[in-house]
Amino acid sequence: MLSENEVCKEGDHVMIYAGRQILFSVVLEKGGQITKKFGTIKHKDIIGKKFGTRLGFVNPNYPDIYVLKPSPHLWTFCLDHFTQIIHYTDIAVIAFQLELRSGSIVLESGTGSASLTTSLAKFVAPLGHVHTFDIDSSRVENAKISLEKNGFGNIVSVLERNVVEQGFPFEKEFADSVVLDLPSPFLVIEEVARVLKKSGTICSFSPCIEQVQQTCSKLEENAFTGIETFECLLREHKVCVFGGFVDDEEKEKKQTEDQMEVFEYKRRKRKKMKEEKKEENIKLFTRAIPEARGHTGYLTFAKKNTF
Ligand SMILES: C[S@@+](CC[C@H](N)C(=O)[O-])C[C@H]1O[C@@H](n2cnc3c(N)ncnc32)[C@H](O)[C@@H]1O
Repeated sequence: MLSENEVCKEGDHVMIYAGRQILFSVVLEKGGQITKKFGTIKHKDIIGKKFGTRLGFVNPNYPDIYVLKPSPHLWTFCLDHFTQIIHYTDIAVIAFQLELRSGSIVLESGTGSASLTTSLAKFVAPLGHVHTFDIDSSRVENAKISLEKNGFGNIVSVLERNVVEQGFPFEKEFADSVVLDLPSPFLVIEEVARVLKKSGTICSFSPCIEQVQQTCSKLEENAFTGIETFECLLREHKVCVFGGFVDDEEKEKKQTEDQMEVFEYKRRKRKKMKEEKKEENIKLFTRAIPEARGHTGYLTFAKKNTF
């Protein structure tokens, strides 16, 4: 994810994208091929292409396929889930509130599936560092593999550790920020107060309001200031095309299971109508995507006092 390369080469980790329903990552190999429900793509047909290239559509019933450079945002959609993960809306708010930038030193626990870790790494690179801790050895190993694959081997250190019992292995006032996604974050607040720099920021992500209440009480006891809790709800809207050829309507109905495919299909239909100068028949309408994500969790932020 840090590579400046514009062209896909053998060994590159790339994203194959055809709308969010068809999104996965692959490492390009000589002689390799991808076989999915839309058909087969040979790696050799991707190697040498620029990131962002439209590979065309292998099967006319599926949207066009693109090869994209991996990004933390796309990665949240296709990483292997070993735990519940933090998604991009919450990640965006975390990055803003923690004022993450190149050079920031961030401590994180637990690592889980390393969804948040991947974004933290991208924000603090190339000069900063993320030290992430998980009690579970298999999650630590998987996180190391995934972070290495995404080019963050030098930006992130992943360690097996029970932070509730053992705390963080650093001197006091070491970190700019600490991010907790733990079942009992309130048990670590005193340790976070020790390891944070003055004016450093803590973020605690919890799915349940009872966890938030206990965490806020502990933050107050430990003289943190500016304690705030947010719930980030995202509602996505899509502009769609209405109208067109009668004989296309059956085809449209068949595809309604997959909103993104419908969108892609309509986009192609509109292009065709434009070419045939039938655009005056087109009406646009906007609708909320029905499978919008609801409650994910609560984000609590606070600053360490300066005295
Ligand atoms: C919900 S997951 C974190 C998901 C992560 N934020 C992501 O976006 O992929 C919570 C993790 O906390 C770890 N954990 C639980 N108790 C812990 C403890 N005392 N010390 C360190 N890690 C712990 C679990 O093993 C689990 O992997």
